Amino acid sequence: MDISGKTKICGVIGNPIQHTLSPTIQNAAFNHLNLDFIFLAFKVRPAELEMAIQGMRSLDIHGLNVTMPHKNKVINYLDEIDSTVESLNSANTIVNKKGRLLGFSTDGIGAVKALQENGVDLSSSKVVLLGAGGAGRAIAFSIADKVKDLIVLNRDIKKVKNLELDLKLKFDKNIHYETLSQDSIQKNLRSSDLLINATNVGMGPNSKLSIVDPKLLKSDLTVMDIVYNPLETKLLSDAKIVGAKTINGLEMLIYQGAASFELWTGRKAPIEIMKLATLKQISNKGAFN
Ligand SMILES: NC(=O)c1ccc[n+]([C@@H]2O[C@H](COP(=O)([O-])OP(=O)(O)OC[C@H]3O[C@@H](n4cnc5c(N)ncnc54)[C@H](OP(=O)(O)O)[C@@H]3O)[C@@H](O)[C@H]2O)c1
Repeated sequence: MDISGKTKICGVIGNPIQHTLSPTIQNAAFNHLNLDFIFLAFKVRPAELEMAIQGMRSLDIHGLNVTMPHKNKVINYLDEIDSTVESLNSANTIVNKKGRLLGFSTDGIGAVKALQENGVDLSSSKVVLLGAGGAGRAIAFSIADKVKDLIVLNRDIKKVKNLELDLKLKFDKNIHYETLSQDSIQKNLRSSDLLINATNVGMGPNSKLSIVDPKLLKSDLTVMDIVYNPLETKLLSDAKIVGAKTINGLEMLIYQGAASFELWTGRKAPIEIMKLATLKQISNKGAFN
């Protein structure tokens, strides 16, 4: 990699940020296509978010990914946001277009691509989505008008009720919602063929936990878990045991990163290169340590 005065700088801001896989994903793609770009990770504390975005303008940083805890607040400091960002009230990608900062959200695009590229026909799918946090909202907005049926279950009923109201405004379509419990999962999984976990359960130190009682899983189900640390969550290993099809969180991670890459470079993202580099990084470093 030759860095010069013309090299375009991209990066990710968040806190904590040291375990991010984004530099691996993006630099692999820049190098593969011989693009004069570099991608770095920046730790930005919440109180410093506004200054960091001003810094993006003054240092002429070309593009940023935005991760926790800044996805909502960052939109206050941008010049333009697209309609998805407006609906979600959060952005994960910024493009610096000649000093104007444009905000996008690629999480939903990433989830849809992950499903489609793994052979899921959304138009015939009856979906149970677990979680109405940032990622759950993004997924709900991107699949609501594509699937046959969508039910969203969340522990905090107020959050999922708000999501349902927002979805109805945009799609004029009935979306069902209930409080997340093993009973509501059991009832709704009976007639569903796609289960998506968009909660934190099963992540990191809680990797022995699953949000779904294994007895409720069935072989004719596709199960996508968006948690990517660990890659095979307890939910996915339980799903494999009953013979269900599984899709891990790396798929969505790569496709949302690919959508950001395409916004910054205008080039088609080399998906397999990005995936291989990330798997190599994970196998070298263990469970993201
Ligand atoms: N693969 C990818 O590309 C990708 C992209 C984005 C996020 N993610 C992953 O997705 C997960 C969620 O991220 P997020 O940004 O949506 O986080 P978030 O906004 O904090 O939302 C967390 C969600 O998890 C639920 N939850 C947390 N603990 C729970 C528990 N013990 N029981 C039931 N529900 C529980 C919350 O329910 P309440 O509302 O009731 O609190 C909420 O729905 C994280 O693991 C993140 O790493 C992956």
